[in-house]
Amino acid sequence: MGQKSWHRNTLLVHAGTPRLEPIQPTALPIFPSTTYQSQSAEKLDQLMAGEIPGFSYARHGNPNVQALVEAVKELEEAKTGIATSSGMAAIDAALYATHVQPGDAVLISQDVYGASLNLVGTIWAEAGVRAIAADFTDLTRFEQLLKEYKPRSVLMETLSNPLLKVLDLPRITELVHTNEAQLIVDNTFTTPLIMQPLVFGADIVVHSGTKYFGGHGDAMGGIVVARQEYHDRLLQYLKLRGAVLGPFEAWLIHRGLRTLGVRFERQCQNAAQIAESLRRSQSFPRVFYPLLRDHPTYSTAKRLLPSALGGAVVTLDLGGSKETVFRFLNHLQLVASATTVGDIYTLCLYPVVASHRNQTSEERANMGITDSMVRVSVGLEDPQDIVADLIQAAKCAHEHQDDSVVMQQD
Ligand SMILES: Cc1ncc(COP(=O)(O)O)c(C=O)c1O
Repeated sequence: MGQKSWHRNTLLVHAGTPRLEPIQPTALPIFPSTTYQSQSAEKLDQLMAGEIPGFSYARHGNPNVQALVEAVKELEEAKTGIATSSGMAAIDAALYATHVQPGDAVLISQDVYGASLNLVGTIWAEAGVRAIAADFTDLTRFEQLLKEYKPRSVLMETLSNPLLKVLDLPRITELVHTNEAQLIVDNTFTTPLIMQPLVFGADIVVHSGTKYFGGHGDAMGGIVVARQEYHDRLLQYLKLRGAVLGPFEAWLIHRGLRTLGVRFERQCQNAAQIAESLRRSQSFPRVFYPLLRDHPTYSTAKRLLPSALGGAVVTLDLGGSKETVFRFLNHLQLVASATTVGDIYTLCLYPVVASHRNQTSEERANMGITDSMVRVSVGLEDPQDIVADLIQAAKCAHEHQDDSVVMQQD
């Protein structure tokens, strides 16, 4: 059976691994070399011109980085791609690839990762680009904005952060293209296991490889994959900006990818179970999970997410103030208070001090993010232990709140 007909789980385990003749190690060795001797001056000339494959200098390409990119290209059904030093660099590269220029507008989903909003709203805005943030669940308004601002590019996440809204990707793609814009989709939270935005017609897909791809909290990196027409610009970004992924990180992220199938599927199942248990426990006034019936985008999630996998993040509204949340975080015993997602360990992030720190409280309120919300990235521990830890920390946070009120009254 040829590679083309392999199923997703087979691809995850094998994709990207090159044959090294005459030896064939199962794990690709790490190539730390920054430069490569050429067989002849003529060959180097051809290599530098992009006429023959090969490696010349590590900023232009590296075997470990190439193996990772090839794997993600296969998983996302992309024709070209690059790997970058972080997810943020991947988003930056994607914007560059779409030819965003001074005077252009970029339309950005208001509830993407806070730093993505800031990237467009500061660095790109300082270069003369107009950043317009909007709620992409309101498709009527979305279409109006496309017509009004004629953006060059549109940036969104498949699962919003931290409210976990599933956006209507097929309809958004259609509207973006009808209005002659390009669509960049950050697929970090869903991974190609549950969403393949290029298959829906998106133009460019980005990933923070730091999250589910790596999966073990030990490597930072980003990936951009796209249709062939973006090839030259993506490569130029790497060569000139130099935000390349190192070979060690590429190797770790590629190794992580091989177990993504089992890890992510189990993490999604754990998240669904935890969301349901916490909702029933009534320890948190609100529990957000895409596949809970009361989630605002439940019907879109049911339509677009295959195999009932709703991602591995659960967002909780604790009720109370910033101090309540601090007490909650300080009382966690199993769940780590840490600012990332996607690891095998369960992690809890407070958007107000981390991912959405640079948004004003008014901006956060407009997005629906309250001061008492926390985002839980569900890991591989037993879901019962995770639930027990979250409930006991919530109880402690609220009990102490009551104590302080009583003391003040006394
Ligand atoms: C959805 C999403 N995209 C991009 C990024 C940025 O990735 P990195 O931290 O690898 O730069 C993050 C980081 O949290 C993220 O959550």
